[in-house]
Amino acid sequence: MRADESVKGVLEDVREQVTPDKAERLALSEAIDELRQRIDLELDTREVSGETVHVGSTARDTWLSGDRDIDIFIRFPQTIDRETLEQQGLEIGRAVLPEGHAEFAEHPYIKGEYNGFAVDLVPCYDIAAGEPPKSAVDRTPHHTEYLNSKITPAQASDIRVAKQFLKGIGIYGSDLRTAGFSGYLTELLVLEYGQFYEFISEAARWSLPISFDPASHQTKSHDDPLVMVDPTDSSRNVAAVCTDENVARLQHYAREFLESPAVEFFTPTQLEPLTKAELRDVLERRKTDLVGVVFETPAIVDDQLYPQLEKSESGIKTELEARDFNCIRSTHAATDRTLLLFELQHATLPAIQRHTGPPVDVSDHAETFYRRYAEADVYGPFLEGSRYVVERDREFRTARELLESTALFDVGLGSHIESALQDEYTVVEHEQLVSLIDEFGTELAVYFNPAP
Ligand code: UTP
Ligand code: MN
Repeated sequence: MRADESVKGVLEDVREQVTPDKAERLALSEAIDELRQRIDLELDTREVSGETVHVGSTARDTWLSGDRDIDIFIRFPQTIDRETLEQQGLEIGRAVLPEGHAEFAEHPYIKGEYNGFAVDLVPCYDIAAGEPPKSAVDRTPHHTEYLNSKITPAQASDIRVAKQFLKGIGIYGSDLRTAGFSGYLTELLVLEYGQFYEFISEAARWSLPISFDPASHQTKSHDDPLVMVDPTDSSRNVAAVCTDENVARLQHYAREFLESPAVEFFTPTQLEPLTKAELRDVLERRKTDLVGVVFETPAIVDDQLYPQLEKSESGIKTELEARDFNCIRSTHAATDRTLLLFELQHATLPAIQRHTGPPVDVSDHAETFYRRYAEADVYGPFLEGSRYVVERDREFRTARELLESTALFDVGLGSHIESALQDEYTVVEHEQLVSLIDEFGTELAVYFNPAP
């Protein structure tokens, strides 16, 4: 398939913008050389043998101009134990980047800055290609080896364009907040189709699930909408964290872009925060009942925080629904404090609630039900068709009462969210929500301007 002139023009503009110039490349390669030397010097002073490996997009010439991130791995023999690996990794990292700090992913590594570049120094085990990894990051050097043997310079350039497109539509990154397309996945997809334009044209027409197996491993199947079997590890789906929503988002924007090509697709949209007046207007127009729970955001990394926020939001939503508070939509927003927000059809319900019993002919159950309610302070039991029904008092007439009660802690909450709520939280509605505009104005703008 060939791109027409208007697409070509747009893609050339974007290419220009994302390709690092000579000065930037030079600065990068100097930083890498110096870091390598520093690490090698550190390694020389130690008993353990280790090797410096430059990985990630800066090792494959697929990094974006202005995206200053260097990934360097320190590869150790499998003969050293896990504790030694972690300890050596942290010690060397701290020596090389004294201003850096430890981050704890699956195992600790050092994150710091060097000459204006963000640097990750990560220890890993030296495994052979295809061998099962001993730590989650052991495959990474093999990714670089694989891709460097495949990617042509023209494809590297198209990979940059693809990354920028995914950034523009908000789905670039395999962190658990974004749950989108990792750099590695993007590279494999462009390789699969040869070009950015081909990739986007085909993605617009994908029928899901869709599966790629670049190294023809032909192993186990994965239950995901998008499967990219890792050429360096037959058991892994490189697209495992990418949600079905983000695959749909790619398809939607691919179609939109092909329909009317524009550079805007490559720039993330930044909505202006909602003002108090705008929020009052939107509430007045929608005439829904918004109820929120606000608390101090727990001090955990985003990869822990966001899955817990999603779990808590969905747990509370399920509880609201189970209590007859029909939820139209909900969201979560985290700054210093967190807001879990639920938009309800009604935040107030009648004092009574229907409760349907068993059919009368199921005698055991029916009798028990009847006796239990016959003496109770309820309307009924009466019959509706062959079943007993009662109208009994509702436990929570308002969403606020429910959210302020201990029933909140019976729902599936993330563990750190649960402790944060146990410390303190407030339930907000109406004007109290409006008064949070300085903290959550941007998130509320996104919520009230929903888009694919
Ligand atoms: P990065 O997240 O830095 O990605 O991880 P990247 O490929 O360098 O892309 P950009 O340009 O910085 O955004 C570095 C490497 O770690 C491995 C991949 O090999 C990646 O290239 N990795 C990272 C994974 O295998 N899985 C992940 O979820 C993240
Ligand atoms: Mn990187």
